Amino acid sequence: MPIGEGPNGSFCQRVGLQPGMEPLKGLILSGGAGTRLRPITHTSAKQLVPVANKPVLFYGIEALVEAGVTEIGIIIAPETGEEIRAAAGDGSAFGARITYIVQDAPRGLAHAVLTAAEFLGDSPFVMYLGDNLLRDGLRGLVATFESEEPDALILLTPVAEPQHYGVAELDGERIVRLVEKPKDPPSNLALVGVYLFTAAIFEAARALEPSWRGELEITEAIQGLIDDGRTVRSEIVTGWWKDTGQLADMLEANRLVLEEVQTRLEGSVDDASTVEGRVVLEPGASLVRSVVRGPAVIGADALIEDAYVGPYTSIGDEVRISRSEVEHSIILAGSTVADLATRMEASLLGRNVKLTRSEGIPRTLRLLVGDNSTIEIV
Ligand code: DAU
Repeated sequence: MPIGEGPNGSFCQRVGLQPGMEPLKGLILSGGAGTRLRPITHTSAKQLVPVANKPVLFYGIEALVEAGVTEIGIIIAPETGEEIRAAAGDGSAFGARITYIVQDAPRGLAHAVLTAAEFLGDSPFVMYLGDNLLRDGLRGLVATFESEEPDALILLTPVAEPQHYGVAELDGERIVRLVEKPKDPPSNLALVGVYLFTAAIFEAARALEPSWRGELEITEAIQGLIDDGRTVRSEIVTGWWKDTGQLADMLEANRLVLEEVQTRLEGSVDDASTVEGRVVLEPGASLVRSVVRGPAVIGADALIEDAYVGPYTSIGDEVRISRSEVEHSIILAGSTVADLATRMEASLLGRNVKLTRSEGIPRTLRLLVGDNSTIEIV
């Protein structure tokens, strides 16, 4: 629907906004405990772990803004909320206005929605799980939601292990049933962590009892809408989608995002170094007698010396890599990797980690290391 006049003469500023329909708000869920990425998440919110050197959460904020949703509430946990506030600020850097909403404990996605009741008011909204990444963004979904006006629009995608997700059972295009983390999945179609709702979801969420895992499940609230005869539409995700809650998924998300990176060399490359493929070298970063084979990103003021950085690697700001080989890994800011005898791969190093070699010949390295750790490999 083109830009036009609303029923009371108000001007609908957003392209695609139906006259009379309230503007969509955004609700990003960045509370929760992040148990599966410990120890990184002992000291840092999982939504701030970087993918291609950008916190996962920022991809969600950007996708909302790109779809015209600029009034955004972020659910935060008491333990990690301050860090998230400090990172995303008031939203002006994204062209958004961010309101932070503290959820006292991770009591479930539907509990998070109820916690945000005051912020959301009667507005329809996009709910986005803060550790999810969706390649194709939200524009198309927002447009479908605004033109068809269902009570809920959910996204589905085929997955290999549906028992780890909310799962949908369909009859043709119609959703028959939704179940959270079923032992015996009725299909391989998982619920993706992006949902569009009208305020009808509140009544359904208020009617819930805690599930077997002690949470108010959004999956059950949506089932409640279906049982009440409300319109719940589903769409199959076309581009890739990743829930970055676990190490393997985080590395895979990093790989997928780096797949689309474009070369930008703002740091220094000495004559004895080579850069192959698509590589981002941030200002102040230096390559000394090294080889970087993209796709890869190397953060500001990083130093890569007598080293090899292979494909699908994200090196954070001020990281130092010397006399070592690193591939398909994420290394957070301030860490040091030196003198490894074996190529490091499929690893995630936290902030300020020191990984150096002492004696012996390690055969392989697969690491999930927390912030401020020091590791000496024997
Ligand atoms: O990733 C998709 C899956 O997300 C769906 O298939 C499931 O149906 C849905 O329940 C959800 O499952 P997870 O077990 O992966 O959700 P998780 O606990 O990881 O929480 C997702 C995000 O929401 C994460 O950024 C933390 C945040 N969160 C979570 C809870 C339980 C909150 O902000 N508050 C909460 O109470």
